Amino acid sequence: MAVATAPASDADVLERIRAGKLIETVDQMSSAYLEGMVRILTVSADTELISAPAYYNAGKSAPTLNAFGSATAIIQDELGHAHIAYRLMRDLGIDTEQLIYERAPGKFKYPYAFDVPLGSWVELIVANAFYDRAGFCLLGDVFKSTTFGPWKRALVKVDKEETFHLRHGENWMRKIVQSAEGRDEIQRAVDWMFLLTVEWFGLPDDLKRHSEQLDFGFKGQSNDQLRQTWMSTAVPLAEELGIRVPAHFDPQENSYVLDCPFPAQFDSENKRWLLDEGVIGWDQVLARWRARGPMNDQYVETIQRGKRGLEQLIAQA
Ligand SMILES: [Fe+2]
Ligand SMILES: [Fe+2]
Repeated sequence: MAVATAPASDADVLERIRAGKLIETVDQMSSAYLEGMVRILTVSADTELISAPAYYNAGKSAPTLNAFGSATAIIQDELGHAHIAYRLMRDLGIDTEQLIYERAPGKFKYPYAFDVPLGSWVELIVANAFYDRAGFCLLGDVFKSTTFGPWKRALVKVDKEETFHLRHGENWMRKIVQSAEGRDEIQRAVDWMFLLTVEWFGLPDDLKRHSEQLDFGFKGQSNDQLRQTWMSTAVPLAEELGIRVPAHFDPQENSYVLDCPFPAQFDSENKRWLLDEGVIGWDQVLARWRARGPMNDQYVETIQRGKRGLEQLIAQA
């Protein structure tokens, strides 16, 4: 990926950060800082972008016109969040047109969870309660800790909107669990979506590769800490609703612990965890992530074909 030249040294960057100043422009970055920032921005931008077709597919089964309106508002927010992150990358010298419209689907960097289709209104609202909560935890941490000024300022708006998305999920879950059929349907969605969100936070800290994310203050919390932050509100929500999740708070460890094999094999066709097969290695999880899941091609195609269509129209004019 071509990026602009970054003339500063790592020592310059660290000195600036230690003096309590933010990094504002490429010429205040070292190559390692720039590369690391582009990497984390790419994941953020791709995640926001892909959530739009994923939520749209499920939003079409909204129970009322009003509900469809809130789903559409969330999709619009997500496209706005994607725009912010790609726009920041463009300022860092990245060709974002190429990145969005010409990149192969398999090269997109969003969490695997979005590759598994959301097929109903219930799955959409559980995604709001779980996936948007994951986004909120990750971006809330970036907002607090990032040393890149333009991103920090932009995240004020993103943070507020993600809060709306996760509350939307919670409110609908509270409403739907009141009927026995609704509760069963939510339970079925949670059964496959909970662990996919636990997985979302990436490799455990002892296997993690990109240490510059913490050294340069791109984020404040480690993967395992963020996983805990997410579980500290997601698990109580499930408990409040009487929905089973394979995790509980352990007072002795003073943290949330999982009650099932993790990481585990996932059957994406049937949206089912193969927990009977026991714990698998993270190398197997990485292989599944790399191969991407069932919706990857379709979602990226949805985004890229609009531009191709427009270009054809212009060429014919
Ligand atoms: Fe978002
Ligand atoms: Fe969101």
